Amino acid sequence: MKHSQKILGDIWKELELSLENSKHPFHIFTITTINGNFPDSRYVVLRNVNETKKTIYFNTDKRSNKIKHIKNNNNVCALFYDIVKKIQLRIYGSIKEETNLNILKNIWNKSREMSKQCYLNKYAPGTIIENSKDYVNNNHKIDINDGFSNFAVLKIEIDRIDWLNLSHQGHERLMFDLKQNKSDWISP
Ligand SMILES: Cc1cc2nc3c(=O)[nH]c(=O)nc-3n(C[C@H](O)[C@H](O)[C@H](O)COP(=O)(O)O)c2cc1C
Repeated sequence: MKHSQKILGDIWKELELSLENSKHPFHIFTITTINGNFPDSRYVVLRNVNETKKTIYFNTDKRSNKIKHIKNNNNVCALFYDIVKKIQLRIYGSIKEETNLNILKNIWNKSREMSKQCYLNKYAPGTIIENSKDYVNNNHKIDINDGFSNFAVLKIEIDRIDWLNLSHQGHERLMFDLKQNKSDWISP
């Protein structure tokens, strides 16, 4: 097997491993969207990966700014860093909102109560409020599953992965083009 193919296999393996391990460095990543002329980045939790479809997934609030950004421009960059293995992944692709209701419900039903709670907030993320906790929904009639209407699953369809490995023996950098199924060594 070519060295680069082994590296690509390891990338998918580590992304997959991070799903059930909150201490894994790839469990949290930053996703950068484009807001007009400005990039905007934030951390999110990696929720799923699909090597065959070349996709990765995270959950978010439908009302959040990142959803507005991707409606205008769905090109994104996802950034991961494994501080122990000294591996940076820069994943470029396009993002799409999951629209299949059955898939969405399935993911929602598997979510923890603590995660579901976030989707009950009274105001959209980013809304100005008078006091820091004014977003909390104190309506006792509200059911935890009411948050489903604000729940979104975002899928990143990967075009390219820029893999950088820092090493005392000499850094190495590979660019994987997942669309054309090829890779090139590049200068780090
Ligand atoms: C460690 C960590 C994990 C987070 N995970 C998520 C997540 O999975 N989904 C999400 O929408 N926001 C998550 N957030 C909050 C986002 O970073 C961000 O503040 C929020 O989504 C609003 O972003 P936006 O206004 O750019 O849409 C997380 C924040 C931190 C610090």
